[in-house]
Amino acid sequence: MKSIQAATYPVHFEEKAYNELASIIKNRAYSSIFILVDENTFEHCYPRFMQLLQTDKPIEIIQIDAGEIYKNMETCIGVWNAMTELGADRRSLLITLGGGVITDLGGFVASTFKRGIEFINIPTTLLSMVDASVGGKTGVDLGVLKNQIGVFANPEMIVIDPEYLHTVTPREIRSGTAEIIKYGMTHDIRLFNEIKDNPNLNIVDLIHRSIEIKNEVVLEDPKEKSIRKVLNWGHTIGHGVESYFLDSETKENLTHGEAIAIGMVCEAYLSSKVLNFPEEYIHEIKSAIITIYGKTTIEESDVDDIIGLMKHDKKNVGGEINFVLLENYENFKIDCKVPNDLIKESLQFYNS
Ligand code: GLY
Repeated sequence: MKSIQAATYPVHFEEKAYNELASIIKNRAYSSIFILVDENTFEHCYPRFMQLLQTDKPIEIIQIDAGEIYKNMETCIGVWNAMTELGADRRSLLITLGGGVITDLGGFVASTFKRGIEFINIPTTLLSMVDASVGGKTGVDLGVLKNQIGVFANPEMIVIDPEYLHTVTPREIRSGTAEIIKYGMTHDIRLFNEIKDNPNLNIVDLIHRSIEIKNEVVLEDPKEKSIRKVLNWGHTIGHGVESYFLDSETKENLTHGEAIAIGMVCEAYLSSKVLNFPEEYIHEIKSAIITIYGKTTIEESDVDDIIGLMKHDKKNVGGEINFVLLENYENFKIDCKVPNDLIKESLQFYNS
């Protein structure tokens, strides 16, 4: 599989990527190397990583607890302390081996430790392969508000090894699929059609195409001043739903992808009302999403709180909620304003 060149770093695929990683380690003469894992990636991914990486340099393991609830400043302080105790300095390297929590948090820890050390992302979930590890966004949550604290910082390289996908649950794979569907609707409808119509997916091809699309967008607008906002298609309502379910004592948490999938149905509805996105597509999207993810119940009484949480979305300016909407598949508009009543209607459309 061909490598992809991002702004300042390459994305290498499959086993060849480990040779590239070994040569970076050899050539850059790091003073020390750390690998950030959680208990799952330590058990299931770290052995493969060590087997494939040809290096005689010692690598110190730093382990954190698995799960979105640990993607916070307290965990960062734990990692900074561990690195300090283990003698990390400005010439140290941090390798992140895990899903979006590990790559986002690890990138943030590295880019702020002693004003910034180099880091390399090795995503192990589909979500982190196609989205979180690429594009330079790093950070942590603030309470239930997602990714509120962070910086833009690029890794030195990304290793995409789809073999790690055998270590995650089908639910996590479905979660990552939502981001591929997002790229499909906004940039290349083939991706959505393949997921919708084809039970035997060529996952490596879908990952490669997704990263290509994300990279093109990020190269044009690295700091999300304009066009990069398209990568938040489905995320404005999706993040509101995700945070609401995370905070609720009675509702079972949704994965990021499950919430974003709900967001794409609602935002397709908004698109039809605001930009005349074809009516038949909103039914196609709703039916495909419910087939893949099942139906989540959103009560009438949940709606105001979900809209309240959407006000924290980072795309908003001056307290107004900003949406990415579709005029058609592969044809979008950023910075769309939508009245609250229509947002409520869109959640009712999902529920209906
Ligand atoms: N996950 C959206 C972005 O990287 O911009």
